[in-house]
Amino acid sequence: RPIDNGTIDLEWCTQAETPAGKVGCCPPRSKTPVVDFVHNTQLPSRLRQPVHLLSSDYIAKYIRAYELMKALPPDDPRNFDQQANIHCAYCDGAFLETETGWCLTGGHRNWFFFPWHRWFLYFHERILASLIEDDTFALPFWNWDNQFASDPLPNVIPQMYLTNPVLFDDFRNPDHFPPRLADLNFVPGDGAPISDSKQREENNALMYKQLVNARTTRLFYGKEYHPGDSKPDGLGTIESAPHNTVHKWTGSSAKPHFEDMGVFYSAARDPIFYPHHANLDRLWTVWKTLPRNRKGPFRPRRDYKDLDWLNATFLFYDEKRRLVRVRVRDALKTEQLGYRYQDIHNAWVTARP
Ligand code: C2O
Repeated sequence: RPIDNGTIDLEWCTQAETPAGKVGCCPPRSKTPVVDFVHNTQLPSRLRQPVHLLSSDYIAKYIRAYELMKALPPDDPRNFDQQANIHCAYCDGAFLETETGWCLTGGHRNWFFFPWHRWFLYFHERILASLIEDDTFALPFWNWDNQFASDPLPNVIPQMYLTNPVLFDDFRNPDHFPPRLADLNFVPGDGAPISDSKQREENNALMYKQLVNARTTRLFYGKEYHPGDSKPDGLGTIESAPHNTVHKWTGSSAKPHFEDMGVFYSAARDPIFYPHHANLDRLWTVWKTLPRNRKGPFRPRRDYKDLDWLNATFLFYDEKRRLVRVRVRDALKTEQLGYRYQDIHNAWVTARP
């Protein structure tokens, strides 16, 4: 039963019900009709690089792009606050399909986690690129899973998110600023910090368990979520940790819901949300290169084949302020979307505990 969300309209958006109460985060109404996404083959291919290896020129370009995004009029869908609101509106259920009660968006705790966030970042990146008029621009990724004792940089909050006002966010946990290594399996209030070497070991073991050992489609992507299903509660391995955990680890422990990063409605207000998710998106591409089987000839890991997944649609504003309808099936290959990730040695791939 393919889903045709052809009638979805922003009129369906109401205030989001968040742990912090009702929040108004609906997108501005579109002035033009919704268009269907087509892959743009004219764009140059883009390379997403690790934050800790960016050149100073690239950093300058990146900061400039965010300055421009933050300076757009508040009701422009490309404005930074509007971008952050997308995560609130979609992920706290401001869009509810009234007839079936199916949260259209359900970007969390179900099989839409990876594709929904890939699309979100895709448009975010295109908007930044168009603001600086550089189609080669790509988002960087925060390589928090890179675990080399000799190169501790990736494991900490990258410096540029602390030193540049445009990338800074007040609502973070200062106890977790460098040199503190990211705790990929963070549980708030979970005792005293451990040594760096122990932390690396635990992080590697977690990555191995959540990614290498998540051999099945369901384990990795999260559970199926069909129209008419009640609240989703089938999160995939990576979504639960390191995704959720790094969100909470970054957010402020002085705030009731670990704002900004620690809760859906405010997470994308922190500019570090985007490199965090670029890394998760990268890990999706890494997962696909690993074998499904433990022994014997290589058998690839598989996507869902269900049409409720492949044909599910979401709406995003693009760099031209057009409301675009995208399908999950068009997000399955980053090359088709025009970008790829810089090759990184993933030390944890062989860190079988
Ligand atoms: Cu939509 Cu990292 O959460």
